[in-house]
Amino acid sequence: MRVRPGSTPVGAAGILSGVRLAEVLQRSTEWLAGRGSDSPRLDAEVLIGHALGLQRIALYTEADRPLTDDEMATCRALIARRGELEPVAHITGRRAFGRLDLEVTPDVLVPRPDTEVVVDVVVEVAPEGARIVDWGTGSGAIALSVADLRPDVTVVGLEQSAAALAVAQRNLAAAPELVDRVRLLESDGMTAVVGEPFDLVVSNPPYLVPADLERYPALRHEPEQALVAGPVGTEDHARVAAEAAVALAPGGWLVLEVGEGQAEAVEGILATAGFADLGRRADLAGITRVIWGRSAPPGAPASPGS
Ligand SMILES: C[S@@+](CC[C@H](N)C(=O)[O-])C[C@H]1O[C@@H](n2cnc3c(N)ncnc32)[C@H](O)[C@@H]1O
Repeated sequence: MRVRPGSTPVGAAGILSGVRLAEVLQRSTEWLAGRGSDSPRLDAEVLIGHALGLQRIALYTEADRPLTDDEMATCRALIARRGELEPVAHITGRRAFGRLDLEVTPDVLVPRPDTEVVVDVVVEVAPEGARIVDWGTGSGAIALSVADLRPDVTVVGLEQSAAALAVAQRNLAAAPELVDRVRLLESDGMTAVVGEPFDLVVSNPPYLVPADLERYPALRHEPEQALVAGPVGTEDHARVAAEAAVALAPGGWLVLEVGEGQAEAVEGILATAGFADLGRRADLAGITRVIWGRSAPPGAPASPGS
């Protein structure tokens, strides 16, 4: 068989066993860059480290080590999957989020660093002993992080997808110190907790429009119900706001992640739903990523940190 140069990872037909680790890393990086990865070196490091059972630092301390046939085959298979833009987290089954190391499968959204800003806001504004809802908990990233960082609060993670909820439950089971303060429930919106009062509702709801899936091919590996809200993109923000307005105690907080360009629309949604003292925070790229409001005239500072 003839193989077009660069058409297979780490030169599948060309590299023989015995190639040094450093060279495999370099060739994998170049190949992934050509396949559209926006972080080819990091991806190659994580995947080759995973394939070989090595910490990233060992990729460099053992740079001259030759790889065996089996090791080459394992590396090649993982790099090939990334070449199809499958998320690294799906390939390794893990994703770091804040202080947590979460299990991630194709049933859940891969938690994004942007969402750590949402967690920051919740951790800052939640009143002492707050009863918190995480609407659309997915892997449990927000619910578990907030419970981890604020030992005084209780959190209910709600999720409509049973398969996603199972992932969140395994992540909770891996953090036994949190199990007394975190409940995870299958629920369409807040239906499973109707009548329960809460002090804070947080959500990173779906906020894409269907055309975004065409525009960003890498998203095809993640569940559509975690990504797409509807033709406008803010449909789920409106639903969360309406449900939170009913469930929140007076002065309760609503904290929402928003997509790029959605801040003003979501502020309008919050105002219409009766929320006041609106605030916003940007992510590390300077894009407004979090919008919050309070359900009644506040007796506390309107802005985190103020
Ligand atoms: C953007 S993902 C966020 C997941 C996780 N909170 C995170 O930040 O990584 C949105 C989540 O909301 C869930 N979801 C969508 N519609 C829902 C609904 N009506 N009720 C409950 N969960 C819903 C999806 O299944 C998905 O897990």
